[in-house]
Amino acid sequence: MKERILVNCALPYANGPLHLGHIAGAYLGADIFVRFNRLNDKEVLFISGSDEYGTPITITAEKNNVSPQEIADKYNKEQYETFKDIDIIFDKFTRTTDPEHVKDVDEFFLNLYNKKYLEKRYMVSPFCKKLNKFMPDRYIEGECPYCGYKEARGDQCDNCGRTLDPIELINPVCKLSDEKPEFRVTEHFFLRLDLLQDKLMDYLNGKDFWKNNVLAFTKNFVNDGLRPRAITRDLDWGVKIPLDNYNDKRIYVWFEALIGYITGARTYSMEINKPDYWKDFYFDNKIKSYYFIGKDNIPFHTVIWPAMLIAHGNYNMPYNVPANEYLRFEGEQFSKSRGIGYTVNEMLKIIDKNSLRYYISSILPETGDSDFSLKEFQDKVNSELIDKYGNYIYRLESFIDKNKLNITKPEKLDDNDEDIINVLKSKFDDYKSELNNLHIKKGLSIWLEVAMMANNYFNESAPWKLIKVDKSKLNNKLFVSLKIAEYLTVMLYPYVPSAASAIWNTFTDNVKIEDKNFDSLLSVDNFNIKKGNPPFNKIDFSEYVNGK
Ligand code: 2FM
Ligand code: ZN
Repeated sequence: MKERILVNCALPYANGPLHLGHIAGAYLGADIFVRFNRLNDKEVLFISGSDEYGTPITITAEKNNVSPQEIADKYNKEQYETFKDIDIIFDKFTRTTDPEHVKDVDEFFLNLYNKKYLEKRYMVSPFCKKLNKFMPDRYIEGECPYCGYKEARGDQCDNCGRTLDPIELINPVCKLSDEKPEFRVTEHFFLRLDLLQDKLMDYLNGKDFWKNNVLAFTKNFVNDGLRPRAITRDLDWGVKIPLDNYNDKRIYVWFEALIGYITGARTYSMEINKPDYWKDFYFDNKIKSYYFIGKDNIPFHTVIWPAMLIAHGNYNMPYNVPANEYLRFEGEQFSKSRGIGYTVNEMLKIIDKNSLRYYISSILPETGDSDFSLKEFQDKVNSELIDKYGNYIYRLESFIDKNKLNITKPEKLDDNDEDIINVLKSKFDDYKSELNNLHIKKGLSIWLEVAMMANNYFNESAPWKLIKVDKSKLNNKLFVSLKIAEYLTVMLYPYVPSAASAIWNTFTDNVKIEDKNFDSLLSVDNFNIKKGNPPFNKIDFSEYVNGK
């Protein structure tokens, strides 16, 4: 049986269009990792979905004067289509308003409640006298007590990343009324993180292979001391508490949405008529799970979710949480209100998905923030994807086609060609090892080295001279050139799947890249070359560079 892995990707709030920062932060890296692993002969379950509760949704609904459900319906559909348009294809894109999700949340809540990991407590919560109701944490703003940032939200400080309680804020105000909130007593359910601290520490001690930023952030968070945390709110938009007498309270989105990963896997299993399929991914401890998220989601995935899983018992713990940093746009923060940056849909109106995936892959903010620049986008795609790869394939195929050559596998290669094949194989091993270690950007830079090697080899071989003097050597050189083209195309596939797949079809018949694994793809020897069109069109962003 194939080795299995689970890849979960943060459930984006269904409250607006996806922008390039989302794609760079979590989703593109996840899709590349999934495609790579499938080629590498793993069976992957790939889950995401819409996060449809929480104040991001209610704030957008209030602004647009519609119900939260209408907002969630609109953006669930739109985001799903956008992911498809950029070739990010999940096995299941779930929704947290799916009634099946409520079943999973109820089960989780009651399980933890019965084991006394959830406990009723009284707390003080911000109450807006003007609006006569308790206000969600996110609606309260003030100064962060840890870093002094003036616009920290009641749930989290966007500057230092800490999760906050609104009462900790200095000079809090209600965002809707601009009034200073009162803090009133209200009853809520608390997750006893304090009881889980030691087990969490044990779990984290085995995680030295995590990315530095993720591990350092998490250990700090836990070392600060874990306190019980309220996981219910005074709200009417959310999953109901599965106990009597709490009709006016709801489960907090950051407790409930995480369980959406399980709902996604479970409902997918129902859809494929293997209702227990998901259980292997959550209970067979040989199966590794990866959570691709942006950096603002770190504490929820490395502390809260593991704590919930430990408390419930038996579940597999997240194996790795490769959180990315932020993408900036031309040196500035993406900002819808200030018109800085593009949504994915806007970008796809001016550029094809292959080029967009290529460029973002090459600047993924894996170890620090990175910058999206139209000028660099144009230069990289034109000089790398098109000049080094597309043109190489086109020159090679055109030469074979024009001269009606039938390239066959050589009986023996000369030493120079043997060396080239060995270098190719060793680069491919490096590429695999980088991708296995989640160094996705590095994998692409190895691909680029191979593309440069391809061009040098082809130019040095000078088949246009050999054709006049040595047909057997010509065959061998072109065979090696085709082998390099084959590796290049297969290695490119996780990054730029549509284009790589179309180019692959010009090498050989009846073998689809996405149906095969590396071993079988890279052992194709009987090429049947069909000259394609030049596979990419050069980019010219001159009309946009000073525009937006
Ligand atoms: O930051 C966000 O967009 C959250 N909606 C991510 C949730 S991840 C998980 F809980 F589902
Ligand atoms: Zn702060």
